[in-house]
Amino acid sequence: KRLLLLNGPNLNLLGNREPQVYGSATLESIVQDVTNFAKTFDYVVEDYQSNHEGELIDLIQQAEGKYRGIIFNPGAYTHTSIALRDAISSISVPVIEVHLSNVHRRESFRHTSMLAPVCKGQIVGLGSIGYRLAATVFMEENA
Ligand code: DQA
Repeated sequence: KRLLLLNGPNLNLLGNREPQVYGSATLESIVQDVTNFAKTFDYVVEDYQSNHEGELIDLIQQAEGKYRGIIFNPGAYTHTSIALRDAISSISVPVIEVHLSNVHRRESFRHTSMLAPVCKGQIVGLGSIGYRLAATVFMEENA
């Protein structure tokens, strides 16, 4: 029983990057938290972070048949990437889009998601707990 945790561009900088917006937790600590949480339900979390759109597309394509779900923070590609949207559409593994910050309280260019229409759902503005919530959804669903 596996989940894929995917983080897109600039999320490797969490902890230092605009902490007033994204919090002080590092990506490593967030990944550890989700991994430990899922482990108590016998789930393995595989995680990747990439600043490259094509690499994220490759990872999504390769996810087919391997995971119960994908927890995906696409960073700024959320608002721009038709290619990531097409990748998500091309697989049957469900994807939950997660954002640490409340994108709706921010600049208007963050209010739209190219990906949300092809995702199972979206979790926004709840900080790192959002990743856990997404994991919970997949684990409950497959219980
Ligand atoms: C983000 C929100 C995006 O608008 C932004 O580009 C990010 C992080 C979030 O987690 O709040 O890189 O996805």
